[in-house]
Amino acid sequence: MKIIVTRTYDDMSKEAFRLVKEIVAKKKNACLGLATGSTPLGLYDLLVKDHLDNKTTYKDIKTVNLDEYVGLDKDNINSYAYFMRTNLFDKLDINLSNTFIPNGIASNYEEECNRYNKVLEELIPDIQILGIGSDGHIAFNEPNTPFSSLTHVTSLEESTIKDNSRLFNSIDEVPTKAFTQGIKNIMNAKQIVILASGKNKQNAVYNMIKGNVNESCPASVLQLHPNCIAIIDEDAAKLIM
Ligand code: PGA
Repeated sequence: MKIIVTRTYDDMSKEAFRLVKEIVAKKKNACLGLATGSTPLGLYDLLVKDHLDNKTTYKDIKTVNLDEYVGLDKDNINSYAYFMRTNLFDKLDINLSNTFIPNGIASNYEEECNRYNKVLEELIPDIQILGIGSDGHIAFNEPNTPFSSLTHVTSLEESTIKDNSRLFNSIDEVPTKAFTQGIKNIMNAKQIVILASGKNKQNAVYNMIKGNVNESCPASVLQLHPNCIAIIDEDAAKLIM
């Protein structure tokens, strides 16, 4: 794993932007693996700015997202589908039919997971953006999820529900389950860029980079990926320096 420590969150976002832009500029029909959460917002702002300033086109770009809350439909303001449209897709010239995310209101979980696994067999990300949970999760693969997992429905850890409650009116509104790509799906990407910012990620970053490769820290699996870059701001990197 290559590690880049940046001074600030903005510098972290710029490094990530450089990597995504390189791919989008080189390969017009590239596939981008995208993440939600606060961490990639700076990156998404830079992609939008670049699109407006330099006319970088996303006309033929495809995207696959990592996860979606169970029970939220695509127009619910807390759904990840809504997050992606409002923070990125609606501000680019991307064709929405080229953007893929699990369907939060699918009633047959198994069918939906199989459908999404098929999507992921066809669309291998040229670059996968990841955030990391304070408990070391990637996507919604919580500690002790098998490294061999494919798309599945998972129950969120208390700490994850608490971390994510800041985006809801109250903690009771946070869904307790989510569809998530499995760790095996994520590891299929040609390149992985994991971003981490802020003090509350220090332990997770330490376990990801310095810990043993172990299912108790899902992100530690990235040590095994042949082309993975961790971009970490100083606040999150304190324990590895
Ligand atoms: P965050 O979430 O970017 O909002 O901190 C990261 C994650 O839970 O994967």
